[in-house]
Amino acid sequence: MTAPLRLADYRTAAYRRLPSPVRDFVEGGAGGERALAANRRAFERVTLRPRVLVDVSVCDTATELLGAPLATPVGVAPTAYHRLLHPEGELATARGAGRAGALYVVSLFASSPLEAIAAAATGPCWLQLYWLRRREVLADLAGRAAAAGYRALVLTVDAPYLGRRHRDARNGFAVPPDVRAVNLDPSLMASAHRPAPGRSALAVHTAEAVDPSVTWADLAWLRGRSTLPLVLKGILTAEDARRAVAHGADAVVVSNHGGRQLDTAPAALDALPEVVAAVGAACPVLFDGGVRSGADAFAALALGARAVLLGRPVLWGLAAGGADGVAGVLDLATEELSHTMALTGRPALPSLDRTAATLAPPR
Ligand code: FNR
Repeated sequence: MTAPLRLADYRTAAYRRLPSPVRDFVEGGAGGERALAANRRAFERVTLRPRVLVDVSVCDTATELLGAPLATPVGVAPTAYHRLLHPEGELATARGAGRAGALYVVSLFASSPLEAIAAAATGPCWLQLYWLRRREVLADLAGRAAAAGYRALVLTVDAPYLGRRHRDARNGFAVPPDVRAVNLDPSLMASAHRPAPGRSALAVHTAEAVDPSVTWADLAWLRGRSTLPLVLKGILTAEDARRAVAHGADAVVVSNHGGRQLDTAPAALDALPEVVAAVGAACPVLFDGGVRSGADAFAALALGARAVLLGRPVLWGLAAGGADGVAGVLDLATEELSHTMALTGRPALPSLDRTAATLAPPR
């Protein structure tokens, strides 16, 4: 591939290599894909406010999250089954993220052992969890994560059931037998591999494995199983952000799951300011959803995010070039961020404040 100039160039390269049901699994959203589109459209309503005659000879993207130093505030969102995209799967993602000095949030449905991922990583890893009906499995994973050196648990709270993903249903999408969520018992994963015409096997599996009855009161149970910081992912309102902090969350991720859950959810970027206003002083607020450039990352940081995570773009990089592709995506986004910092006269991340960007309301 010729040198990528923008993250979307990795998508073009990736899609040449992937079968169409896998492409649909990666790209698709829920329902009519309104939330998916809204995530992108929100960034088109952003204007940056450049300041001039500032020394921008050095722009510093270094930051720190939950005690870990990072070379960049652009990290890897948790996404399932990386071996669908590259034979080295999450091990390649870990190496690529490490090379870029980026945070890697590993999915519960990783297709490589979580210990091997941590061993391949040279930067901080967090482990994402869904609340499984089998709590003893959750407790075991929390223990394994701490022993393997993960620095936080990320509980995804926006998926009591899987979003209605029409592309996957139409394709009768099931995870191929050679790609497995190896950190979970095969008996727990069987239905994810069982194709059914007109249905997404992942939706069937989620209904079977994930406990939709979990509430705020249950969080104390998880906290009691681990001393690792707990991050809640999938917060879209000030009310829930406050409750998250009241229940001891150490950070929250503003996210609509890349438009894959509630199709009438707000664009993640539109939810960011209210969450930051509610809890930004109490804990770090991370952001994901629709970030496709370093300028997008800049906008989210200016609106109060401490870090931004990339979902699909990392998968494009992985499919296009394994660890090199992942590092390439993260490095390109970070270079663009640094360039945007220079052209807006904001040479360090703390200077990316609310005066640096305006977000027009949705029409
Ligand atoms: C996801 N996402 C996700 N989230 C999560 O908490 N656990 C998971 O296992 C997955 N798996 C997953 C697979 C795929 C293929 C995608 C595209 C997404 C959601 C992900 O963490 C993140 O919220 C969005 O991907 C962010 O949006 P962008 O960057 O993809 O627009």
